[in-house]
Amino acid sequence: MNNREIIDRLSAERSLPKELWVRLLTEYSDDDRAYAAEKARNISTGIFGRKIYIRGIVEFSNICRNDCLYCGIRRSNTALSRYRLTEDEILECCAEGYSFGFRTFVLQSGEDAFFTSDRLADIVRKIKLSYPDCAVTLSVGELEYGEYKLLRDAGADRYLLRHETADREHYGKLHPAEMSWEHRMKCLRDLKSLGYQTGAGIMVGSPYQTAECIAKDMLFFEEFQPHMIGIGPFIPHKDTPFRDKTAGSYKLTLFLLSLCRIMLPEVLLPATTALGTIDPRGREEGVLAGANVIMPNLSPLAVRKKYMLYDNKICTGDESAQCRHCLEERMRSIGYELVIGRGDWQERRALK
Ligand code: 5AD
Ligand code: FES
Repeated sequence: MNNREIIDRLSAERSLPKELWVRLLTEYSDDDRAYAAEKARNISTGIFGRKIYIRGIVEFSNICRNDCLYCGIRRSNTALSRYRLTEDEILECCAEGYSFGFRTFVLQSGEDAFFTSDRLADIVRKIKLSYPDCAVTLSVGELEYGEYKLLRDAGADRYLLRHETADREHYGKLHPAEMSWEHRMKCLRDLKSLGYQTGAGIMVGSPYQTAECIAKDMLFFEEFQPHMIGIGPFIPHKDTPFRDKTAGSYKLTLFLLSLCRIMLPEVLLPATTALGTIDPRGREEGVLAGANVIMPNLSPLAVRKKYMLYDNKICTGDESAQCRHCLEERMRSIGYELVIGRGDWQERRALK
């Protein structure tokens, strides 16, 4: 079986055995990528049209109790000045975002003990009260079932929690011993069972990642059926233990976006900021490889440079309004348009 045949099989069966994943991910040509990208693009335009959903991210605190080895806001990074937005500041970001046409707000932060689930639930309720036509997505890390439930009851619609890797040993090399892969996976199952539209995901080319690891990630996606998948390249951050590691492959990231789209046709798939950071055309090419979501930053300009998960993150010097227009232009340049709307996950309509 050649790679095209493997991709055809994925497309027909929405599933591959592990050996074929490993083969496909170990040896692929630009031609294989183009073949997958075209299939993926046809699937996404068949379902979503040439329309891109936008989500405004509010990075409301860079204080984090965790110490993930790859992440620029890990607690051991003392070179970073820490901030926390007030509730009013968070609500102002949403107001601004709403005026630009955003109908999904993603509240993201480090695991900051100040923002207890009670405090967060209050904020979620206020946003939902002011903007009943908007979706609220949370991305605030690992919590307990009861806390996720409280937030869901407060009106949170979606939750993003990348699993980072489906290989337990690999997880152990990316995280300090006190963090548990089992707990992270339990969080994802809890979130889904509570009725959140749930997002999982990985970094491509994180240190010690092998084709076998990514094969396990793909099998995990197949089994878990996330509503959203966040995939971006690993990019080293100068103040972390992984400062000298190599960044993930741009081409492999694009290939994986296409393969995710082919395997899970209706999945919400962002062309991530990290993809836009390692290549100036990353977000455009991500869309052309099958992505259908872009998540620009709505954080106040004053704090943007402090939410550096990796070096050289784009858009940290641009006002939200600028990003909104810049993205519109970028999407127009490839024949796509941004849509105003919540952009919920929907069951696939009959797809030829
Ligand atoms: N490079 C790329 N992505 C990163 N993330 C954290 N640190 C980095 C990095 N150095 C990703 C993780 C996390 C998400 C919010 O950002 O996958 O889940
Ligand atoms: Fe932020 Fe282009 S999207 S400047």
